Amino acid sequence: MNFQWLPLLCWWLQAVKGNLFQEQLGTFSEIFHSLPGQFWNSECESKELTDISKQNANTLEAWSFFIHEIEGWYCSVQECCESGDCRLTNNITGLEHDLSKKLHGQHLAKEVVVKAVKGFSATKSPEKALALSFHGWSGTGKNFVAKIIADNLYRDGLRSECVHFYIAPFHFPHANMVDIYKGQLQQFILTAVQQCKQSLFIFDEAEKLHPGLIDAIKPYIDHYDHVDGVDFRKSMFIFLSNVGGNSINSLTLEFWRAGQNREEITMDDLEHQIQREVATSRGGFARSGLVTENLIDFFIPFLPLEYKHVKLCVRDALRSRGIKYDLDILDEVAKGLLYVPKEEKLFAAKGCKSVSQRVNFFLP
Ligand SMILES: *[C@@H]1O[C@H](CO)[C@@H](O)[C@H](O)[C@H]1NC(C)=O
Repeated sequence: MNFQWLPLLCWWLQAVKGNLFQEQLGTFSEIFHSLPGQFWNSECESKELTDISKQNANTLEAWSFFIHEIEGWYCSVQECCESGDCRLTNNITGLEHDLSKKLHGQHLAKEVVVKAVKGFSATKSPEKALALSFHGWSGTGKNFVAKIIADNLYRDGLRSECVHFYIAPFHFPHANMVDIYKGQLQQFILTAVQQCKQSLFIFDEAEKLHPGLIDAIKPYIDHYDHVDGVDFRKSMFIFLSNVGGNSINSLTLEFWRAGQNREEITMDDLEHQIQREVATSRGGFARSGLVTENLIDFFIPFLPLEYKHVKLCVRDALRSRGIKYDLDILDEVAKGLLYVPKEEKLFAAKGCKSVSQRVNFFLP
């Protein structure tokens, strides 16, 4: 047998072993169980990737075809895309860790997101796709949490081929083109889930989605086994909107005025209020069957952020740029923001939104 191709396969397998399919490695090594022991022990160590360049181009081509075939076959039996680029990590520990360390002032969002995603990813065959709806004013962390979810469930985070991000007014700007968008979106979702069962669809500014578009998405979130021959029940939909923000803000203010800790606010205090505000608000999201037929699994509130939370955002922004800071700088940046209501000046009007740009003033 000719072992010339081994370095390439070694390299590929090691890449695979190191990065993708971490969860499924058991299955994966079984496939190659029959390969000789020396394959792992000596050949992989001694041969460098550079050896490949010395090889005959035809051999390389033949083997890359072979690898492509294996990859395709492997992907057809496992949770990953045809391209092999869709790498699920489903790291719930990482999700919990990131939400605890990087998200500030959102005890409810943290708790409910972990609970929902953990439960969903642990269920072998869920009844329906997971649908989460994030509510709150801008800058409170809705996008940030969506990113954290993507980062921990997919190796390539938001760049993963399994993750699809829409900004309603940007991707679907013209109301008179709704029928075209509808067809495109449905086709897109169908193809995406065909290629990657655990796809994640994020809709930002969901309150601006046309009702027709939400109805187009609805069948994929409903309790059907299959839609057009495709099983959607492993995919996830996240809607981000500012609907409900008013209820959330006034309740948080009430707690503060009553001298209560904001961490004492419970889902019971807020979930129904949000649902009510969603149901009575204008726009497609509110009127769609998605909400009225209870297809949203969790309505997740994002509370308005206080001065102390903004300071933590400033600290994180400085740290992530590797800048040494003292506490005065945190105050200085945090003081530069606008706080509401007028009397109390309690909540940052734009949350942590402009913090990362403001920090740039302090770059050496
Ligand atoms: C999951 O995330 C944690 C925390 O970020 C990290 O330490 C760990 O290595 C990750 N696990 C995997 C399998 O990627």
